[in-house]
Amino acid sequence: MSTNEATEVHLRVDGEEQTARVDPRMLLVEALREDFGRTGPKIGCLTGDCGACTVRLNGDIVKSCLELAVACDGSSVDTIEGMGTNGRLSPVQEAFWDEYAFQCGYCLSGMLFAVQDLIDRIPDPSEEEIRKAISGNLCRCTGYENIVQAALAAAARTQSANRT
Ligand code: FES
Ligand code: FES
Repeated sequence: MSTNEATEVHLRVDGEEQTARVDPRMLLVEALREDFGRTGPKIGCLTGDCGACTVRLNGDIVKSCLELAVACDGSSVDTIEGMGTNGRLSPVQEAFWDEYAFQCGYCLSGMLFAVQDLIDRIPDPSEEEIRKAISGNLCRCTGYENIVQAALAAAARTQSANRT
């Protein structure tokens, strides 16, 4: 048997059980895009530096270019495609939209996960905490000011949404 023979991988992607046969050398970001129908995670550096491929894996944010798809068998993966509910943007997505916090959008899904993860851990983050949280996500377009403003607005929106 060739060691590169396709292997069956089962994932719960955005809440939906899916199975695909993938090359055992395939990265999670590649498998998500090519075999699981999720093009939200982007391929940038493939070295863990840019954050464009960020997803949630079993609840934790990870850079999906640093994970082998076969090693994730049986895992739950959340991508940007599953972030809103019932066709509506999440509070974090709305804040990025309102604050013009993206241009080309290539970094956007990774940024949204970094900010969502921060707000989940620290509901009222400081600007310094925000800058630290997004330090693993590179944006070549915005200069970061709008992203920081969006993160502050996202925290306020989330707190307000949780109160209602
Ligand atoms: S593509 Fe994964 S961190 Fe850049
Ligand atoms: S909006 Fe273009 S890379 Fe961030």
